[in-house]
Amino acid sequence: MRVTIFGASGLLGKALMPQWTGDEVAGLSSRDADIRDAQRLQQVVNETRPDWIVLAAAYTDVDGCESNQELAFAVNRDGALNVAKAAKAVGARLMFLSSDYVFDGRKTAPYEINDRRNPQGVYGRTKAEAEVELLELDPGFCIARTSWLFGTGGKCFPDTILKLAASRPALEVVNDQRGCPTYVEDLAQAIVRLCRKNASGIVHATNAGDCTWFEFAQEIVRAAGLKTPVRPVSSQQMARPAPRPAYSVLSASRLNSLGVEMPSWHDGLRRYIQARKLTRSAAAQLSRTIHPR
Ligand SMILES: NC(=O)c1ccc[n+]([C@@H]2O[C@H](COP(=O)([O-])OP(=O)(O)OC[C@H]3O[C@@H](n4cnc5c(N)ncnc54)[C@H](OP(=O)(O)O)[C@@H]3O)[C@@H](O)[C@H]2O)c1
Repeated sequence: MRVTIFGASGLLGKALMPQWTGDEVAGLSSRDADIRDAQRLQQVVNETRPDWIVLAAAYTDVDGCESNQELAFAVNRDGALNVAKAAKAVGARLMFLSSDYVFDGRKTAPYEINDRRNPQGVYGRTKAEAEVELLELDPGFCIARTSWLFGTGGKCFPDTILKLAASRPALEVVNDQRGCPTYVEDLAQAIVRLCRKNASGIVHATNAGDCTWFEFAQEIVRAAGLKTPVRPVSSQQMARPAPRPAYSVLSASRLNSLGVEMPSWHDGLRRYIQARKLTRSAAAQLSRTIHPR
């Protein structure tokens, strides 16, 4: 199978690249191909002739999207449509990464794939509009909605919490937003399996289980063996530019019906903490080699 990944330099993209065995994979960053440039995209897709395109490229700064709406729609909606058209032109399948933020958070039970989209912020609107346009263009495309990503390939919530927990006497974290933390290694494996199964339509792909950001932070600190106290606060006390859904737990029923299961976020977090230790000690060793004391 030939696979072309847009967003290969991102948090998910870095985990996704090594997951394909026996396949021919081309990974691209924004420097290789800006998804806003339809002509360049078509050129890349013509050259790589993929069976599958995985679109993990996006403008992911949720708060930044509020003040840079034009950029947010240009990349996340119009850029996604450019990729979809390029895919269709060569008969490639498309796996588009979307978000739990397409929902308004008013439910109290896990969101199913056909629940009504009603995004609260700009980032969610860009993703929701992209979803609609992509499925209109080709209902055979696959949309994988995911949430609360963490991994060793970039900035993420557990990394921030661990750095703060090591430097502050106590942490305050919001306790009124509930979702599903997702380890990018597990998501990457699920994506490969979905492609191999020729999945189409909407699928929710997150680690199993849910929690609030406060509960997540508590577990991160505990699992890392730290003693820093974590205190719950409300979103109102920690005002951010973008509104976020109070509840965005995604149901795995479609994922499971396709024969794909994902481990619990606790399990993902344990493996992340181990991997982070290894990455940090390898980086420290390298810097000692380059700058011997
Ligand atoms: N992170 C989360 O918690 C989360 C939650 C739900 C859904 N998602 C979705 O999951 C996907 C992966 O997220 P992530 O956290 O891995 O993202 P990320 O770490 O922010 O990486 C974004 C990727 O997109 C590329 N990119 C940005 N603008 C581009 C452009 N104009 N043209 C081409 N490439 C561009 C970046 O390339 P450069 O490195 O060259 O800038 C980078 O490879 C995204 O679709 C995101 O919306 C993420």
